Amino acid sequence: MNVAVVGIGRIGLPLAAKIASQGHQVMGCDINAARVEQVNRGENPIPDEAGLGELLAKVVRAGHLRATTDTTAAVANCEVVLFAVAVDVNAEGTADLTSLLAAADSVAQGLRPGTLCIFDTTLPIGTTRKVLAPRLEATGLELGTDVFVAFSPERLLMGRIIEDLTKYPKVVGGVDPEGGRRAAAFYREVFGGEVMELANAETAELSKLSEGAYRDLNIALANELAMVADAHGVDFTEVSRAANSQPYCHLHVPGTGVGGHCIPVYPRFLIQGRGPSSLSALGRQVNDAMPGYAVERLAALVDGLAGKRVLILGLTFRPDVAVTPHTNAVDLLREFKARGADVRGHDALLSEEGARALGFEPAAAPFEGYDIVVVHAYHRAYAELDWARIAPVLLDARNALDRDQIEAQGVRYVGIGRPVSPA
Ligand SMILES: NC(=O)c1ccc[n+]([C@@H]2O[C@H](COP(=O)([O-])OP(=O)(O)OC[C@H]3O[C@@H](n4cnc5c(N)ncnc54)[C@H](O)[C@@H]3O)[C@@H](O)[C@H]2O)c1
Repeated sequence: MNVAVVGIGRIGLPLAAKIASQGHQVMGCDINAARVEQVNRGENPIPDEAGLGELLAKVVRAGHLRATTDTTAAVANCEVVLFAVAVDVNAEGTADLTSLLAAADSVAQGLRPGTLCIFDTTLPIGTTRKVLAPRLEATGLELGTDVFVAFSPERLLMGRIIEDLTKYPKVVGGVDPEGGRRAAAFYREVFGGEVMELANAETAELSKLSEGAYRDLNIALANELAMVADAHGVDFTEVSRAANSQPYCHLHVPGTGVGGHCIPVYPRFLIQGRGPSSLSALGRQVNDAMPGYAVERLAALVDGLAGKRVLILGLTFRPDVAVTPHTNAVDLLREFKARGADVRGHDALLSEEGARALGFEPAAAPFEGYDIVVVHAYHRAYAELDWARIAPVLLDARNALDRDQIEAQGVRYVGIGRPVSPA
């Protein structure tokens, strides 16, 4: 089968490599010429993605995967086109479809009758049918007769995408019934795992938004309960361990907020759409307030932050992946600066320029002589640090460190929903 994957970024490239590894001919299409060249050399542009390097080298060497900037020409030879171009929110908090629409227009110019188009990018409900499918009919092709369209969300964790691609059922919903059937058959063939064919594209779109909203709200609930725990001097980690020992309770972990796209961005697609959504809006509000809450708690502990030297470690949105969109490290920086602190940042996975791009003054090693160290993304590279040398107070932004170990080093531990170590 000839398959085009449009957008060979964090999601599209592993997806393209995995399909190519099943013996299909895959064209990776992207407007980023440097990435296209790199892929054609068999070089992996995403080194923190487990297994991608070997897989990519293998499929490029075997001639099963090639990349191009000419999307229109590439899709003309393909039976299936997958879209993995990112959609973010704009300043007004609504979905910014600019890149995906441009990609759809490039595809439309090259589409041949009989092609199946599958949108993998998370979208507001109704977008595949009302906005994207009509773009694909631009050259006169008719939906359901000449071009078949489906939505099938990616449900992957960055860093282990190759593994996740076949781990969970592939959810599929057609815009036209034949699109749904063909998309389900396609995924059954290429991945061999379970495929859940839903009633239509809207059902599949809402299923993906539901996953993100569930996690966002669950974290918001954990955050609210953690603040209650703080008010009562109770340790929320013990509370949630006890509550979750009953099978109907699945409390998530509290923290200074939620980063990346899936959890903080996509619930906004529910809020912008029709239907009741006040709970999603409330969840966002609670989670967005957490950096301020954590920093204010620290300020009270150390008699104000003016002039205090603060080091923030781990600036990416989550441990061990070099991805920064919507990272809460930036929110923590803002909150510390607003209170007059002198803040430095470091990330084991980013260059100094990478830290600067997020607004941080890069910290120089060795790390020592700070008043406060904040561990935001607890990368493996930070596991052996000598915390006592760095600062007398540590804020564990995601309750990820071993409190006893920190205290044994004579450092005061501050978590979210956890009593502060005695002075
Ligand atoms: N990253 C995740 O963990 C994750 C998880 C689940 C779902 N998703 C979904 O996957 C989507 C893609 O995310 P990503 O992290 O791979 O984004 P990304 O930014 O890493 O990749 C998107 C790629 O699309 C390319 N592109 C932009 N405009 C284009 C055009 N007109 N034609 C061709 N290519 C174009 C970009 O150059 C880039 O390489 C997200 O919007 C999300 O819905 C992501």
